[in-house]
Amino acid sequence: MEEKTPSESIVEMTEMILPNDTNVLGNLLGGRMMHWIDIAGAMAATRHSHKTVATACVDSLDFRRPIRVGELITLKAKLTWVGRTSMEVKVKVFVENLKTGELTLTNKAYLTFVALDEEGKPTPVPPLLPETDEEKKDYEEGEARRNARLNKKRARL
Ligand SMILES: CC(C)(COP(=O)(O)OP(=O)(O)OC[C@H]1O[C@@H](n2cnc3c(N)ncnc32)[C@H](O)[C@@H]1OP(=O)(O)O)[C@@H](O)C(=O)NCCC(=O)NCCS
Repeated sequence: MEEKTPSESIVEMTEMILPNDTNVLGNLLGGRMMHWIDIAGAMAATRHSHKTVATACVDSLDFRRPIRVGELITLKAKLTWVGRTSMEVKVKVFVENLKTGELTLTNKAYLTFVALDEEGKPTPVPPLLPETDEEKKDYEEGEARRNARLNKKRARL
């Protein structure tokens, strides 16, 4: 299977925070944010593999500042590491100051997706070819994160 670069499957998604997305204080609900992170990550993994994907794992997710109703957020999803059938995707969330256009990072998460065939079984995906120094670093660290995840999974079983 031919290698693909991380930039070939990047996904950017922008949402405006509406009252329906917020809690009683007018701040974005954590669950809504997690939903958007999952969707952005799944779209990047689907772009890379051209397969249906399932979320296998979401690493820890921290919320660095409340996001208010009326603000815009942009999610940027990019593949960082690929195994045989699994893909690690980094999703960064930025809140945008509409007056200045300045973007502030509010969330970062790593998710692992598995490509599935028509029978719902894991199926191979194209290898990932990191190009930039940052992509190469992400790839090396991705290998270590994957090993830690699988060790955790084994310990839970
Ligand atoms: C994800 C899933 C398909 C993996 O199936 P499985 O039978 O464990 O498959 P395998 O053991 O053959 O592993 C397949 C790949 O997934 C990876 N994987 C499995 N569990 C994982 C986990 N918890 N974290 C990270 N990677 C995982 C394996 O390392 C392997 O990767 P590789 O092929 O790149 O080496 C299966 O556990 C599943 O269907 N889970 C439910 C998914 C779901 O409902 N998600 C929410 C809605 S999309």
